[in-house]
Amino acid sequence: MTTPSNTPDLSPMIAGYWRLQQWGFSTEQLLSFIEQHIALGISTVDHAWVYQSEAIFGRALKQAPELRRQLQIISKCGIKPSGNSPLHARNTAHYDSRGSTIIESCEQSLRDLNTDHIDVLLLHRPDYLMPVDEVASAFNRLKEAGKVKHFGVSNFSVAQFELLRAAVDVPLVTNQIEFSPYQLSALESGVFEQSQIQQFSVMAWSCLGGGVLLKGETERSQRLLLALTDVMHAVGADSIDQVVYAWVLAHPAKILPLLGSSNIERYRSAVKALNITIEHEQWYSIWQAAVGHGVA
Ligand SMILES: NC(=O)c1ccc[n+]([C@@H]2O[C@H](COP(=O)([O-])OP(=O)(O)OC[C@H]3O[C@@H](n4cnc5c(N)ncnc54)[C@H](OP(=O)(O)O)[C@@H]3O)[C@@H](O)[C@H]2O)c1
Repeated sequence: MTTPSNTPDLSPMIAGYWRLQQWGFSTEQLLSFIEQHIALGISTVDHAWVYQSEAIFGRALKQAPELRRQLQIISKCGIKPSGNSPLHARNTAHYDSRGSTIIESCEQSLRDLNTDHIDVLLLHRPDYLMPVDEVASAFNRLKEAGKVKHFGVSNFSVAQFELLRAAVDVPLVTNQIEFSPYQLSALESGVFEQSQIQQFSVMAWSCLGGGVLLKGETERSQRLLLALTDVMHAVGADSIDQVVYAWVLAHPAKILPLLGSSNIERYRSAVKALNITIEHEQWYSIWQAAVGHGVA
């Protein structure tokens, strides 16, 4: 897959660390997990200050600093959950993309991750009160200090992206959004068309619907599992999750899927999707199962 020209050098699939705290890995287990996914070609890792994953990951990097050079680290800022630190909201959890919040959150992420730079910093969610000039100055300060290489957004609409793009001096290199056979709204939102016109990669989170897609607990997911199984047999894939990733990768927007598993064998399986081709008609058979009707 050729990467769009305005996307930095990232791996074709991304290791998602949202659930790291729940996994209960020791530092040694985490180091082994990181080394194994790097060996599989997954060298880009996705964090956010709000995930509370960064200090755990940073402890591992402190123990094996040579790994840092092999990784591209994504972090996110701009969500303030309620709690008791300057980065928390006093009472009401909210989105905050004011300049001081971006800088403070990024500085905390750098300390937690034990690194001197973040490769891609994203605004995690659109802040309805987003002060675009403050975002622009914060991005410039972080870039000039060498603390952040590239900037982007997550969960932004096309209009929100364009508003910010017009205000900042740096390119916006991605929009990280939810996309899977289970969550199709990105197909209609214009995000994929925008990314193709502007030549950047969209990142897709929860490609397996957070695991729900594979459980078949609803009529819709049972219908999807049947369609995915048919395509799995037709293309000779080993598992349904491979077909899901191949379906995401088949979109011409050259999407970068995020993986959310704690199980390296599931990573081993997922990367095989990079070599699976889903034909046009097969892609629509999965879409049809997802929406519950055929094309008009
Ligand atoms: N920007 C945003 O707002 C946003 C929002 C959500 C997520 N994200 C990012 O996207 C990443 C991925 O999201 P996600 O965790 O929801 O992804 P996902 O891949 O849809 O779900 C992963 C979950 O599914 C389970 N699972 C069950 N069967 C599986 C199989 N065959 N293969 C793989 N996983 C299976 C995993 O459990 P096991 O651990 O047991 O495999 C894990 O709990 C996150 O880690 C985070 O970095 C970003």
